[in-house]
Amino acid sequence: MLRPATFPAGFLWGAATSAFQIEGARHAEGKTDSIWDTFAHTPGRIADGSNGDVACDHYHRYPEDIAIMRGLGLDAYRFSISWPRVIPNADGAVNAAGLDFYDRLVDALLDAGLTPYPTLFHWDLPAWVAERGGWADRSVIGWFGAYADAVVRRLGDRIGTWLVIHAEGVRAVRAAAPGAAVGAAWNMDVTYPASDDTADIAAAERFHARTNAWYLDPLVRGAYPTAYLDMDAALGRMDIRPGDMEAMRTEFDLIGLNLYSRAIVAHDPSDALSGMRREQGPGWRQSFGWEVWPAGLRRILRRVDADYGHPAIYITENGCADATGPGPDGAVHDADRVRYIEGHLGQMARAIDEGVDVRGYFAWSLLDNFEWQAGYEQRFGMVWVDFDGDLRRVPKDSARRYAEIAAGGALDYDDALE
Ligand code: BGC
Repeated sequence: MLRPATFPAGFLWGAATSAFQIEGARHAEGKTDSIWDTFAHTPGRIADGSNGDVACDHYHRYPEDIAIMRGLGLDAYRFSISWPRVIPNADGAVNAAGLDFYDRLVDALLDAGLTPYPTLFHWDLPAWVAERGGWADRSVIGWFGAYADAVVRRLGDRIGTWLVIHAEGVRAVRAAAPGAAVGAAWNMDVTYPASDDTADIAAAERFHARTNAWYLDPLVRGAYPTAYLDMDAALGRMDIRPGDMEAMRTEFDLIGLNLYSRAIVAHDPSDALSGMRREQGPGWRQSFGWEVWPAGLRRILRRVDADYGHPAIYITENGCADATGPGPDGAVHDADRVRYIEGHLGQMARAIDEGVDVRGYFAWSLLDNFEWQAGYEQRFGMVWVDFDGDLRRVPKDSARRYAEIAAGGALDYDDALE
């Protein structure tokens, strides 16, 4: 049955981006390379041979991008803060000029009535950290804490909510900005068993544990979930030392969920460690090839709500790759993305009707941007960017439809979808 989608008063409507994907300004004002600069400049790594040197040039065009968000009537903007802009070298010195950029950005957002939701770290690890062992070297915990501390000290007087990684990030924010809310964004693949067979259901649970709960459980519950047929072997590979599990445990004020697609999982004994395989589903495909299954958003929201004690949840990313560009009329009629957004917002409203505490939604992404290994070939933006020309921005049909729903425009959801 179709029901009208409604959203609670104060529900936060936003858009999300990440630093490396939009900023450009590779070496501006003291920034050094991240692992994505070095990777993109390695021949053969990026599908279209591109890199992030200029990207959307958001570093210089942020006032225009903020004006677009304001024009759409959005409430909030989630962006990430480039670690190598803030701490460019192994000596650990803080680059004040790099922080100045985020200072200007935050002030401009607040002036435009948009609430900033900064994310500390979105894949762009400084090259100097990678050269010293990166995530595999325990010193990274202290290096990350120092970066978080520098950022929070500089911007903390204007930020209500921080998104971080690791317990060390939570500690750094709580120490430097005791009044702020802290969360993290977890990328999840909502999981469906391939059949009602108990073996498939158990395999799907292992997949959920390995893909989704693996990163959340140690932090909020202090233990890894049962994700492998042989958990002793899996944990034995991880070099967990006395005190690690205690140090990892922390408390979040909110949980961020990123969702793009779903996984259908079957039991498969030929995979000795995990005992599972993924199967294809019948939904339509976004241009990246991922299956579109809007009811998955309701399902993952209910799962997280039930498993983690009814937390405050934000959808920190959700979006659709759709390459549609300007047509003869100059407008961008991205019908697939419109369909994607309508379906997912509807199923989110359904979860809210069912009692899940969803506080906000950030569409991925505000702008077409550097889609990692796919370069500029996959476009996730609600705003088209002319990468072959002058980087002009053109809000797409999806941006208008999203703004319309955010402003209370009519939308239905199907309450029979699973
Ligand atoms: C990442 C984004 C990326 C998107 C689409 C998300 O998991 O956070 O940076 O653009 O996936 O691939």
